[in-house]
Amino acid sequence: MLTMTVFLLGLVTAAGQAGADQNPQMSDTVFKNVQVLKGIPVDEFMDAMGMFSSSLGYDCSSCHSPEIRNNRDAFAVETPAIQRARGMIAMMNNINRSYFRGEPRVSCFTCHRGNYSPEIVPSLALQYGEFKEDPNAITIFPDRKVSAEEVFDKYFQALGGRERLNRLTTFVGTGIYSGFNTGGAEVPVEIFASAPDQRTQIIHMSAGDGIKTYDGRNAWVAEEWRPVPLVNLTGGNLAGARLEAVISFPATIQKAFSQWQVGSTVIDDRPVQILQGTDSGQTPVNLYFDESGLLVRLLRWNKTAVGTVPTQIDYADYREIAGVKLPFRTIVTWTDGQNTLALNDVRPNVPIEAAKFTRPAPFKRR
Ligand code: HEC
Ligand code: HEC
Repeated sequence: MLTMTVFLLGLVTAAGQAGADQNPQMSDTVFKNVQVLKGIPVDEFMDAMGMFSSSLGYDCSSCHSPEIRNNRDAFAVETPAIQRARGMIAMMNNINRSYFRGEPRVSCFTCHRGNYSPEIVPSLALQYGEFKEDPNAITIFPDRKVSAEEVFDKYFQALGGRERLNRLTTFVGTGIYSGFNTGGAEVPVEIFASAPDQRTQIIHMSAGDGIKTYDGRNAWVAEEWRPVPLVNLTGGNLAGARLEAVISFPATIQKAFSQWQVGSTVIDDRPVQILQGTDSGQTPVNLYFDESGLLVRLLRWNKTAVGTVPTQIDYADYREIAGVKLPFRTIVTWTDGQNTLALNDVRPNVPIEAAKFTRPAPFKRR
């Protein structure tokens, strides 16, 4: 919880100050004191901060000056931990270059594993304890007895059948949103979705509206807690925004990736089937289906300059709308925080003006 709370408070003032849309948004032009992670997109830079926090079990203020609570400029203030972390980036790059042909095989997490002081002594408890499989592992063990086609068929059947899915072309949902972005408060949220792949989410906070849009090609976020008032999503974050839009109308999901492999694992003691979608040169995506065939989890990754970070989306509370089952509850978990979206009303096949899916205005305080 801590990570995001500080994140939120620290960046509140940023939105008003940082000015108009900046393009291209590169780390060393947007921020003031970037010495190592230069020339990377802002969203990737923030994912690198997520990697640091998650790997060391730290929140932002463990490394940054306590001043970040009231003043975002304080993120640029040099601290011993920041100097140490810069040295660690150099060490990590050196290891990867010298021993792994420059491939990103070692990240902060490889050594730290959630601890600021990596273990030196082997753990007998770990060695002799019960083995627990991580359902979120990026490498799956393919099960060649089941085809991806069969898993998709079962999924579409569980949702109400392909024919009904094809007849759902738009929906507008309203509900409640809460989590790190809102400082824990419950705020109204609206979802606008149009087949095959447009989606906009608007959270109505007292400070102003937070908007996230995928228009079929590009994705933007204009939210209070972001480092700049309008962030363009790139790389795995852009692919993730597209996937979230496509999964709103799953009929075309199969075509979203060129290859699918089937695997299996366990989530909360329940068996699930995994479909892993891959496209060359991109991080994969994992879809998890429960015994009834419904999608219960989506996992995607983003490559950063300091390693790959995961984002997990859990789907629950499926209800029937226009003959099609839609998840009314969505929980998004990533290295910087966790948010819950709980819909209470969904209106199918209503007209939505095209302007709802265009680039949002930069975040502005009310
Ligand atoms: C393990 C230490 C560590 C943690 C934890 C950490 N950071 Fe950083 N942060 C750094 C380092 C190191 C830099 C400078 C990077 C460089 O020089 O390339 C930095 C730079 C930044 C900057 C750029 C400041 C400027 O204007 O130059 C921002 C913004 C930032 N961090 C935000 C965050 C947020 C938000 C969090 C919590 C989610 C966070 N950081 C967690 C180490 C950390
Ligand atoms: C090869 C293993 C390894 C890798 C990779 C690694 N670290 Fe470390 N790190 C260490 C060790 C060992 C220490 C010393 C811990 C101690 O003093 O108890 C340390 C200490 C630190 C500290 C000081 C912690 C404190 O508060 O005392 C920071 C900050 C840190 N690492 C950040 C990072 C970051 C950020 C990355 C990724 C860019 C990273 N480390 C990658 C092994 C590693």
